[in-house]
Amino acid sequence: MSDWAVRVSDVSKRFRLYHERNQSLKSAILRGRTSKHEDFWALKDISFDVIEGHTHGLIGSNGSGKSTLLKCLAKIYWPTSGTIEYRGRMASLLEVGSGFHLELSGRENIYLNGSILGMSKKEIDSKFDEIVDFSGVERFLDQPVKNYSSGMYVRLGFSIAINVDPDILVVDEVLSVGDEEFQRKSFQKFLEFKKRGKTVILVTHTMPVVEDICDTVTWINNGEMMQTGPAADVVKKYQSSID
Ligand SMILES: Nc1ncnc2c1ncn2[C@@H]1O[C@H](COP(=O)(O)OP(=O)(O)OP(=O)(O)O)[C@@H](O)[C@H]1O
Ligand SMILES: [Mg+2]
Repeated sequence: MSDWAVRVSDVSKRFRLYHERNQSLKSAILRGRTSKHEDFWALKDISFDVIEGHTHGLIGSNGSGKSTLLKCLAKIYWPTSGTIEYRGRMASLLEVGSGFHLELSGRENIYLNGSILGMSKKEIDSKFDEIVDFSGVERFLDQPVKNYSSGMYVRLGFSIAINVDPDILVVDEVLSVGDEEFQRKSFQKFLEFKKRGKTVILVTHTMPVVEDICDTVTWINNGEMMQTGPAADVVKKYQSSID
């Protein structure tokens, strides 16, 4: 048996899509507690292992369920059924808007995020300069992050996530918001991370990146797992499906 760092077992996620949203308060009261909804399964029975030290990609067309799965992995959503197990400390960087407290400054968010990710104040103090340095947002550190540009936001988020030194890093394609220099820097960080035997789970639409840095890949389509396995095989199948 190989050593997994993350084990996804039969994960399904249902959303309830409510209709008649724009009804008046009166009609809502008259209707009572019943409201019409439709079940929508964004993920259906997804299972795969991510081996410790591997970089694992999640690919698939828009709306296929990649971010939903990533949010389940980052413990932002709870799967409707199925389980996700981890071996080690997990940190995540999801789409812009999740993870930061918008009214707080960059500095405050570093401490808040660090402590959520399990670091002591002393630990954060010792890494503070490095986090700020890598993010490049030093001048704006005491501004509320709601005033940050999306690139600045992602730079700070990535810088925190990578510096808390997790064993497992979960990243949505937000990194593509960063400029070229930052993309190069973060790519370099991934490689360093990998060299140190850490595990990465990554969503991206950029197939050359997948082929470059992913060992294994899971392809999802309409919430269903199409294929999981070695990166080159899965990418090839995925690409031939869209040609
Ligand atoms: N909170 C929610 N409530 C209802 N439906 C949702 C919710 N979050 C996601 N969905 C639906 O789940 C499906 C999968 O969305 P998801 O964001 O996971 O796709 P994705 O694979 O990340 O797509 P993209 O490549 O565009 O980022 C979509 O149909 C979306 O509308
Ligand atoms: Mg997405």
